[in-house]
Amino acid sequence: MKEKKYDKRFVKRLKLGSRYVGKYLLDDMFEAFNSGHSPLKPLDVVIERTYSCNLRCQTCFRWTSSPNEEELGLEEWTSVIERLKNWIGTFSLSITGGEPFLKSDMLDIIKYATGQGITTSVSSNGSLIDQTLADKLVASGLDALALSLNSVTPEIHDETRGCEGNFNDVMRVIRILGDRGNMWLSIGTTVMSENLGELAALAELAKEMRLDGITFQPLMETSSLPIFDVKGQSKKLPDGKYYKGLWKNIELVDGVFAKLISMKLEGYPINNSIRHLEYMRRYLKDPNDPGVCKLPCKIGSKNFLVDPFGNVRICSLMEPIGNLRNELPADVWNSEKARRQRRDIDRCGKKCRLLTCTFKDLDFSFKLRKLRKSLQVAG
Ligand SMILES: C[S@@+](CC[C@H](N)C(=O)[O-])C[C@H]1O[C@@H](n2cnc3c(N)ncnc32)[C@H](O)[C@@H]1O
Ligand code: SF4
Ligand code: SF4
Repeated sequence: MKEKKYDKRFVKRLKLGSRYVGKYLLDDMFEAFNSGHSPLKPLDVVIERTYSCNLRCQTCFRWTSSPNEEELGLEEWTSVIERLKNWIGTFSLSITGGEPFLKSDMLDIIKYATGQGITTSVSSNGSLIDQTLADKLVASGLDALALSLNSVTPEIHDETRGCEGNFNDVMRVIRILGDRGNMWLSIGTTVMSENLGELAALAELAKEMRLDGITFQPLMETSSLPIFDVKGQSKKLPDGKYYKGLWKNIELVDGVFAKLISMKLEGYPINNSIRHLEYMRRYLKDPNDPGVCKLPCKIGSKNFLVDPFGNVRICSLMEPIGNLRNELPADVWNSEKARRQRRDIDRCGKKCRLLTCTFKDLDFSFKLRKLRKSLQVAG
């Protein structure tokens, strides 16, 4: 029985992997010959399950949102997923927030999506995952779980996450999930002055704790993680104190990133491509590096983001191109608004093109690691 399930996961990953490669190659070809082409279907679907959060990070102010009854419920999310599946076929679904596990239907949403053959991943702060939930997540067929961890020093992590004890929570979840079959478990680190000197130690920790990966994410101004209301209007947010101090230790940047690149080449499970690490280095030295701002933002043909109210965006910072409460995903994706948003994306000069979810890179070694993991049988 078990082996059958793992075979299924391998086939799913293989299918999705080939779709990725095909899509990336095709997009590059189309871009070279016709910059105004209309992409067939998205590749990465992101659901922001809720804006609510139980932490108080000073880099993201989603925790300032109050619980809102107008957020989509379980039935609406399953219907969204069903319609997406009917249209796209296999795709990768990332669920984020806010803190997604604040919603009691998260497990049902995951089970529904994996049951449809969709590859699922969740980003979480780890605070609400106990042994029972961890066991259920493994049994649900969830493909990947990413836990945020900003430091190997508990005080620094807790301080940047605005919550005493969260470092211990994340460590507890990693230990509980030591035996996780072929579910991919990684940590996500937001890079800022406070943890710049610890990035290599975090990669070391990822290896020692037998995690499947660590993803580095450059700190952006908090407006890069916007909060919208049901009508798609965004809330004004402060920059955040860590963003203001981001360029405090620039003399460390070259050495730190040279070390990370050599660690990746040695086989440490660093998920970012070398190209991404290289661009991050440039951004962290100079946010206005012309090379960074000129790098094309590649989300136009790939991203499909659904906010807690069903509003769809290609770029998470721009206005909605439709709403899945009353529109079909294909109509939204091919609408005139979507075409206009793609043109705005082509002209955009913002730095959030370097966020992990936005920096679209075809990294074969990463895809292969994921494929290999899906063949592993639980110990
Ligand atoms: C918005 S959170 C949502 C999921 C979950 N609540 C968590 O913290 O993992 C997704 C990721 O964004 C990161 N993040 C927070 N503020 C950021 C910022 N200003 N710039 C870049 N990444 C940020 C978080 O550390 C986290 O890894
Ligand atoms: S980064 Fe995650 S945990 Fe922190 S406030 Fe934002 S949503 Fe919450
Ligand atoms: S860089 Fe990309 S993700 Fe950021 S605002 Fe511009 S288009 Fe959107």
